Amino acid sequence: MRILVTGAASGLGAALTRAWRLRGDDVLATDLAGQDVDLTLDITNDDDWATAFEEVQTRWGGLDILVNNAGVAGGGRLDVATLDEWRWITEINLFGAVRGTRTFVPLFKRQRSGHIVNVASLAGLVHPAGMASYNAVKAAVVALTETTGHELAAYGVRASVVCPSYFRTNLMDSLQGADTVLAGVMAHLVESSPLSAHDIAASVIAGIDAGHELIVPDVAAQSAWKMKQTDRMNYELMMRAQADKLHRLAGEP
Ligand SMILES: NC(=O)c1ccc[n+]([C@@H]2O[C@H](COP(=O)([O-])OP(=O)(O)OC[C@H]3O[C@@H](n4cnc5c(N)ncnc54)[C@H](O)[C@@H]3O)[C@@H](O)[C@H]2O)c1
Repeated sequence: MRILVTGAASGLGAALTRAWRLRGDDVLATDLAGQDVDLTLDITNDDDWATAFEEVQTRWGGLDILVNNAGVAGGGRLDVATLDEWRWITEINLFGAVRGTRTFVPLFKRQRSGHIVNVASLAGLVHPAGMASYNAVKAAVVALTETTGHELAAYGVRASVVCPSYFRTNLMDSLQGADTVLAGVMAHLVESSPLSAHDIAASVIAGIDAGHELIVPDVAAQSAWKMKQTDRMNYELMMRAQADKLHRLAGEP
């Protein structure tokens, strides 16, 4: 397989790259400038996407899988997070995937094959308090993926979205935002997770191989998503308890 991965210098992108290469797939690993990867690709930069497209054509003359994985952490309570923070996270976590999709869809349509894998988050399916901007952009990535799958099915092109719960990576290094209380909570959840990027990558690759459109790669995420669909009352209670805890931590009345 010929695979392009964004955000491949760290965390899930690095783990996916490693796992695919171990089994003999060809991976074009991309990330921000200065990272130890094959190609610089800032996913917010149109010129970088054009360069990546040219590189794929020169190397392989086509592509089998595009993985829109690169992303940043953000969030914050509704009255604390700023509009600039909303714009920043949308530009990277949503428009990054949109740019990647727009860059490669014409090629995939011509090939009449291809697979777009978007890394969203459990936050794209269940939406805890304090994380509106992150939840909203990840939910948008879920919608983008489903739409892509419907629109391109007739061309033999597939789309999958990945929705993990917290796992240990360098994601919190990217965190920006005025809500330091929420930042502390998120950092604790990422850093104390029993799951590594390697665990998630193995499950993601199995999901892609099986052609799953929705890949919920870990048990914690699967339980939360199932609870929302089948036990709405307890789901609401759990989410409200989490919101109460956030208010208490923030010293809000
Ligand atoms: N770690 C978690 O708990 C968790 C949970 C759910 C979803 N995710 C998602 O997984 C994906 C990967 O994150 P991770 O946890 O491996 O984090 P990470 O910080 O370890 O890796 C993210 C990579 O993306 C790169 N990146 C950031 N902005 C970029 C840009 N503009 N252009 C190109 N590359 C950029 C970073 O340099 C980094 O190498 C993200 O989309 C994240 O939202 C992570």
